[in-house]
Amino acid sequence: MKQKLVKKIAILSVLFNVLFAFSQQNNLEVDLTNTVAKIQPTMYGVFFEDINFAADGGLYAEMIKNRSFEFDNPFMGWIQPNSDRHSFNENSGIASAVNYTGNPTNKNYIRVKVSNDKGYELINEGFRGMGIKKDAAYSLYISASKKSGDIKTINIQFIDKSGAVLGETKIVLTSSDWKDYTSQLVATKTEAKAQIKITFEGTGEIDLDMISLFPVDTWKGRKNGLRKDLVQLLYDMNPGFLRFPGGCIVEGRTLEQRYQWKKTVGPVEDRENLINRWNTEFSHKLTPDYFQSFGLGFFEYFLLSEDLGAEALPILSCGMACQFNTGELVPMEELDPYIQDALDLIEFANGSIDTPWGKIRNSMGHPKPFNLKYIGVGNEQWGPDYIERYKVFAKAIKDKYPTMIIVSGSGPFPEGDYFEYGWEELKKLQAEIVDEHYYKPPQWFRDNASRYDAYDRKGPKIFAGEYAAQSVAIASPLNKNNWECALSEAAFMTGLERNAEVVHLTSYAPLMAHEEGWQWTPDMIWFNNLESYGTANYQVQKMYATNKGTDLLSITLDGKPVTGQSNLYATAAKDSDKKELIIKLVNTSNNIQNVTVNLFGKRVNSKGTISVLTSDSLTDVNSFETPNLISPKESIFKLKGKKAVVDLEANSFVILKFKLI
Ligand code: AHR
Repeated sequence: MKQKLVKKIAILSVLFNVLFAFSQQNNLEVDLTNTVAKIQPTMYGVFFEDINFAADGGLYAEMIKNRSFEFDNPFMGWIQPNSDRHSFNENSGIASAVNYTGNPTNKNYIRVKVSNDKGYELINEGFRGMGIKKDAAYSLYISASKKSGDIKTINIQFIDKSGAVLGETKIVLTSSDWKDYTSQLVATKTEAKAQIKITFEGTGEIDLDMISLFPVDTWKGRKNGLRKDLVQLLYDMNPGFLRFPGGCIVEGRTLEQRYQWKKTVGPVEDRENLINRWNTEFSHKLTPDYFQSFGLGFFEYFLLSEDLGAEALPILSCGMACQFNTGELVPMEELDPYIQDALDLIEFANGSIDTPWGKIRNSMGHPKPFNLKYIGVGNEQWGPDYIERYKVFAKAIKDKYPTMIIVSGSGPFPEGDYFEYGWEELKKLQAEIVDEHYYKPPQWFRDNASRYDAYDRKGPKIFAGEYAAQSVAIASPLNKNNWECALSEAAFMTGLERNAEVVHLTSYAPLMAHEEGWQWTPDMIWFNNLESYGTANYQVQKMYATNKGTDLLSITLDGKPVTGQSNLYATAAKDSDKKELIIKLVNTSNNIQNVTVNLFGKRVNSKGTISVLTSDSLTDVNSFETPNLISPKESIFKLKGKKAVVDLEANSFVILKFKLI
């Protein structure tokens, strides 16, 4: 009886959908001869910030946490299970931290005293463990100095949680002076939560520093480089720019904790570690072991931009600490060093190798300039204090580098007093590009596809620098990267693209999150120590970025832009290089919608493709178990004469593509 009823309801609902589809006739028009605006190559980019273990513990492939004993607690991340401190009967040995005298950037090393042969062990726990893959090789580096006694070798092993050995190597000590030793470990098993165990042969005292371990198989095979799978996900998006290093991390909770790029270049062992500002930002997600090693520093960011074929977009502190935290301000008369940092950065990126900073770039292996074109002044600053500082920065930068494009900020919210004030002042100052941020509910995104329609075409250009639909509330730990959020962003993005004349750069934020080390959700890419996947939001970004086009065309419904009428959104573009017509359609209704796109002007090949991104439920998410649950399905699509007639599935994002003839 119950089964029959369910069957009836199912049949009725199919009938209803079919009828509804026929009743919803949407006739769209695209004029292929009418280029409305050029679409900037920078239109879709990526925003990188070291939040959620995105750099240390993530993209930067170092596997040892606190490798140089520089955290506030020099032994954070290190365990001595049977040291004198823990095992009173054994007295096997102990390590203690020592301060280098006179080295301000690499402050600590440790002194290990091995008392007897009862098994002293020093273990590093990695970033929530270490991901190792069967048969893969890992490069080890240790700086050591024998002090006294007769320690002959250092033994290094991968172990699992039961203590089973999963690969090992040995270093034979040859000097009582500081010496760098290298070796390799090969993993005998795949394990997501491995650790490194260090033991010693012989007794005595030995000093250790910079114990570092990287997979050999990094992005582009670079020594001590970046995690290959994570860069690949970025590369596959074909981003137009890479914004770095954030985000609030630029500002710091205090001025002292701001991001200082000069401390992130040169030899890694001399890069001074700093507490990560996200370490204890959220009481719901404390990560007290989150520090910045700056192994991924400004040189590496520039190199990554180059690898991705993306414009580098560094954002610098403008002398204001995060206004949500201390809001510390550098007095105007003391701003010079901050401005000098900006000027020196341009020299570091673009200067000849004879200039002081160009020389450092050269010494790091990149004699050719990075061809930096953009620089950002401040992140989410607001109020007169920002405008006053921005003015001085902008003048100094333009005086010395007139072609440099400066990005300014409009604060943390996309409306309200801070926003209005910032915009008004920046307009008066003829700012070139203004950064806007919006972390809003999915409905806001669906309602705001026409946000930029009325923006002044002659005013500053827009950098939609941080945005993401929040399924619960801003910064709520319950937010999900669900299909409703991604679909709503897809709808909103039609509005970004339709306004390519004024919107020049856009990026989702934040970019990456470690499954166990995150502070902020949602995030575009999730990873653990072995695997990674792109969320539904990633798929939307990727579809836009890899189908960008060069020329915006008009697409209309009843003569008007398609901004949500009948829950329908649309944008159209031509790619003059690939000779393609690209039509993006978003249906945010729970029903199939029939759409006819009438093509005017130039001819196109009648056989094209259709890519459909959708999912059964708005609450669906991609995950480590089902990483491709929400991913585009592509098939052949045929025109009917000069019409593209398509039934848009309920809650779907569709791209139609045809070759221009
Ligand atoms: O993306 C996370 C944070 O959100 C960024 O650091 C900040 O700019 C914004 O408030």
